[in-house]
Amino acid sequence: MYQFAPPFEAAKPELYRELLSAADSLTAGEPDAVANMANCAALLWQFVPRLNWAGFYRAINHELVVGPFIGQPACIRIAWGQGVCGTAAASGATQLVADVHAFLGHIACDAASRSELVVPVMRDGAVVAVIDLDSPEPDRFDSEDAKGIEVLAALLSARI
Ligand code: SME
Repeated sequence: MYQFAPPFEAAKPELYRELLSAADSLTAGEPDAVANMANCAALLWQFVPRLNWAGFYRAINHELVVGPFIGQPACIRIAWGQGVCGTAAASGATQLVADVHAFLGHIACDAASRSELVVPVMRDGAVVAVIDLDSPEPDRFDSEDAKGIEVLAALLSARI
């Protein structure tokens, strides 16, 4: 059994430090990418408040395919460059979207989503996956959330 106590009262940097520490301890030494993504999706859901979807899309043959996640069943395949996730994959850059309705080409997997944060996971200069967080709150994510998830993506680079 694994039990973690997210410090919800702490400032975001502390919350993300604790999330990183939990992710590190769960994935260290485990070579199975699906197991590591599944546990990290569960940690994201547990640690990051006010989400309606948290998980991974994997880069396979220049397309994104849904991976382990928590939330409503989601679009299975996303074309490279399409939607928020495909844009993150194609650009290799974090996408912080305050209002998904204002993002041209946003793909609505869950009508409840109002804001979104997508961070690419890079290995050897290529995008191997993206971490996708959706929130029912407009403008839910800021640069501290982006930084926290980018550090998690760097940790997972060689573990997924
Ligand atoms: N909104 C994403 C699609 C994935 S779901 O949010 C889970 C996008 O525009 O790429």
